[in-house]
Amino acid sequence: MKNLFSIIVIILAFVFSSCHAQNKIPDVYSNLHKERDGRLFLEWRDGRKAYQVDEPAEYTLDGVLGQASGTETGLSFDFKDPELSGILYYGFIHHSDGAYPYPVYFRDFEIISQGKAHIDILNDLSGRYDMIDWENTGSGTLGYRIRTLYGELVYDGKVTFEGRGPFKVGTTVVEGPFINLLGHDRVTISFKTNVPCKASVKVDDRVFSGPMSVKEHNIEITGLSPDTEYGYALGGVSQAQNYSFHTAHEPGSRSSFTFAYASDSRNGMGGGERDIYGVNAYIMKKIMALSRQQDARFFQFTGDLITGYTTDKKSTELQYANWKRSVEPFWHYFPLYLGMGNHEVLEFLFRDTLDNIPVRMKIDRFPFETESAEAVFMENFVMPDNGPESEDGAYYDPNPGKTDFPSYKESVYHYRYDNVGMIVLNSDYWYNSTANFIRVSGGNLHGYIMDRQLEWLEETLTMFEEDADIDHVFVTMHTPAFPNGGHVNDDMWYGGKNDWRPYIAGKPVGKGIIERRDEFLDLVVNKNTKVIALLTGDEHNYNRLKLSGEVVIYPEIYFPEKITLERVIWQINNGAAGAPYYAQEQTPWSGHVEGFTTRNALVLFRIEGKKVSMKVINPDTLELIDEAVLRE
Ligand SMILES: [Fe+2]
Repeated sequence: MKNLFSIIVIILAFVFSSCHAQNKIPDVYSNLHKERDGRLFLEWRDGRKAYQVDEPAEYTLDGVLGQASGTETGLSFDFKDPELSGILYYGFIHHSDGAYPYPVYFRDFEIISQGKAHIDILNDLSGRYDMIDWENTGSGTLGYRIRTLYGELVYDGKVTFEGRGPFKVGTTVVEGPFINLLGHDRVTISFKTNVPCKASVKVDDRVFSGPMSVKEHNIEITGLSPDTEYGYALGGVSQAQNYSFHTAHEPGSRSSFTFAYASDSRNGMGGGERDIYGVNAYIMKKIMALSRQQDARFFQFTGDLITGYTTDKKSTELQYANWKRSVEPFWHYFPLYLGMGNHEVLEFLFRDTLDNIPVRMKIDRFPFETESAEAVFMENFVMPDNGPESEDGAYYDPNPGKTDFPSYKESVYHYRYDNVGMIVLNSDYWYNSTANFIRVSGGNLHGYIMDRQLEWLEETLTMFEEDADIDHVFVTMHTPAFPNGGHVNDDMWYGGKNDWRPYIAGKPVGKGIIERRDEFLDLVVNKNTKVIALLTGDEHNYNRLKLSGEVVIYPEIYFPEKITLERVIWQINNGAAGAPYYAQEQTPWSGHVEGFTTRNALVLFRIEGKKVSMKVINPDTLELIDEAVLRE
């Protein structure tokens, strides 16, 4: 009995301490406290308290995935939302009719009433509407699209069925497969299923199996030959799916190839697929189709995938799911490498009212391990994990030896393809979207590369500089070093005001934003010979800026130390993947900007040994926007 009592005490102590750890306010913040009832508040001025409030998601991924179940004649859906009324479009997905599987919508739709709908496969989708031969094979996949009464498109789903009536829901690939971490001898194929299962991927005659009973499958394929096309087939799911991938060139082989670059695909205006709950799916589809048609071997996409800025992880997850769906048929074949922008942020919001004016202050959400923008990005994508750990260990770390910051893993990393090295940075790390209040709560500034990330950049640049296989290095981050239209008052310029900087545990860091920009430029331009271009976004336009010692990079009055750019590099900005446009603004470097456009744009870099050229195409009209040789 005494033993039992001790066990209960230990369990209770463990539960209490883990709850306490979950709720602990990270020491990197300041003026944040909790009431005795657990309510979080920011003491933002003269003892005034701004309480934390959540703005719950209108729609969640769990909801729109719906509880699909088989009936005598078809499938019924329960989206678990009695308020949801609208239209359910649907149609079969033919997995072997063409390379890029899309639903072919049926001539009719169903009504969603009180969150419920039914699709009659037996009576509506048979005979001359059976384009997938389900009446013979006894299985098929349906794509469905949720449209609300107000005409908003919320989600494009997929469900595999089995039977000829009665029907049941089969093991469905609800997301993917995606080609990730492509090397010259390996690749990771990632996908999600609706129920836990043991899945496999067959490549040639070899079968690579995943673990038992998981919904998230990341299957590593090894022992491959470079520059080779491989077919692959998914196993362990109800419907066969066959795609292919092409392994990377042998490092340093210096064979020619093309890669694609864009960013900023959050929702646009105009209705329809320009806004599938947080994503401009219309432009992303066209961008991906053009990339494949141009034989791009990989795609770099750096930030603002989604509209984001949520206080609800479930909303962010739905927006990421919609982004993945918008590019999915093409991601079956070649890798996408993704970076973070400001819109990926997941926040704690604090509200107060002063003199009848509402005040809103926001910080990166915690616990950082599960609720930060960085953690949710890491959970949703499979990116290289060779980046730095976090900002822990910098001189401003309040607790050496203890983790106080979010992780950089999978949002800061490097990769290579043949003779190209790519460095992906996160210039919206631990981002506080209410810059005026950073001095109150603590947080990082939009566009500011903090110390540990900068150290890692220096090490990675040195690694590529010393690598005889690498000729060209690209550095990509969401925010331009030199904004030109839309973000002239922030990014790495802040209208020429160096004062802006992050605060940690109530203290400002030593270097302001322009000093930090200069340290960054000194590394990529002056201390390095291989960096050819910065690939940036944030500003929703395309433009090309030739940087050299001739370009004015300071405001007229500027007191801190200045640097001189000692060689030519380019800043290629392409935030034109669907977010609402920004026009060009005046800056000290405006005279060196070329090709500025607000049209949607895809940048295609062509690497031919030592030569690097680029062309820019409007993915909507296929018109050529710009062309340039960056390195002869
Ligand atoms: Fe942005």
